[in-house]
Amino acid sequence: MKAILQEKFGGSETLYLGETEIPKLKEREVLVRVKSTALNRADISQREGKYPPPKGESEILGLECSGTIEDSNGSNWKVGDEIMTLLPGGAYAEFVAVHQNMLMPKPQNLTFEEATAIPEAFLTAWQALVRIGEIMPGQHILIHAGASGVGNAAIQLAKQIGATIFTTCSESKVNFCVDSGAKHVINYQKEDFSEVIKQKTSNEGVHLIIDFIGGDYLEKNIQCLAKDGKIIQLATMGGASTQIDLRKLMAKRGQLIASTLRSRTRDYQIKLTQDFWKFAERLFLNGTLKPVVDSVFYWNEVREAHKYMEANRNKGKIVLRVS
Ligand SMILES: NC(=O)c1ccc[n+]([C@@H]2O[C@H](COP(=O)([O-])OP(=O)(O)OC[C@H]3O[C@@H](n4cnc5c(N)ncnc54)[C@H](OP(=O)(O)O)[C@@H]3O)[C@@H](O)[C@H]2O)c1
Repeated sequence: MKAILQEKFGGSETLYLGETEIPKLKEREVLVRVKSTALNRADISQREGKYPPPKGESEILGLECSGTIEDSNGSNWKVGDEIMTLLPGGAYAEFVAVHQNMLMPKPQNLTFEEATAIPEAFLTAWQALVRIGEIMPGQHILIHAGASGVGNAAIQLAKQIGATIFTTCSESKVNFCVDSGAKHVINYQKEDFSEVIKQKTSNEGVHLIIDFIGGDYLEKNIQCLAKDGKIIQLATMGGASTQIDLRKLMAKRGQLIASTLRSRTRDYQIKLTQDFWKFAERLFLNGTLKPVVDSVFYWNEVREAHKYMEANRNKGKIVLRVS
């Protein structure tokens, strides 16, 4: 089969379209013909040699795809069924092997390019908000990087759950975040998000913070956290180290919880996917929840797609059309 391959780690120029073996199916796996995949920042780290795939998983990049069933391997799926799925890797390829219980049916009203923008962004957001964050209707929550793929999915889900949403983004993305359902959009280039939140919540603060930035955001997150609030750390795009006064976190009885999705066991991911889909299927079908596709590249333009992500130019997901 054709796949995007790499002979050595490095920049986007190390990626090329080449030939490799079709994956062999293990028990309870089906073979999917990939129609589209979407880029994730983890792809860039893996491409640079800083984020190896979990042991035993494909070395090929790609954490999600949409496509059709090519070999159902005795499962309840039928050849030709249209699906989308989270993956531990391998989606930058014509075919990928997936556990049969990880698959979600592609909503009929969405294209393959739209459907591939759902799994990683929405499952990460669902995990942070619901599984870990235990978000409740009526709570105030802060979602950083509201125009990112995961941030935007979190805004849409939190709105459906009935939370009041604060979000941060750069200037050109403010309207996009408002349209997605955030009540207060803070342009972090002009305003101190912590001060805005304290003012808008009469000093109560937010009950839940989803943070991808890290670095000196941690201190500001603690400043605007409500009593017994939680900070869920999902990435460190703004820096991995910082210094804080732990007494300030203790005074809030705050919890700082870090999480990843790719390293979770398959059973955990299956349960997460099924819980999410029970909540979200109807909402995607009636258009309430929307995958946000920023741009679509053909997979032979994979280098340009990676450069585009590295320039932080996207609002939502960058999709690669495979077949
Ligand atoms: N832990 C997990 O389970 C998990 C799962 C999936 C993804 N992630 C991570 O979550 C992060 C977001 O992923 P994504 O795919 O949603 O990203 P994305 O769509 O590529 O968007 C990232 C956005 O974050 C903002 N940003 C980047 N660097 C920043 C900085 N230093 N300071 C402030 N804002 C910055 C930029 O928007 P502005 O122009 O608005 O600043 C940028 O467009 C990535 O780091 C990814 O690896 C974690």
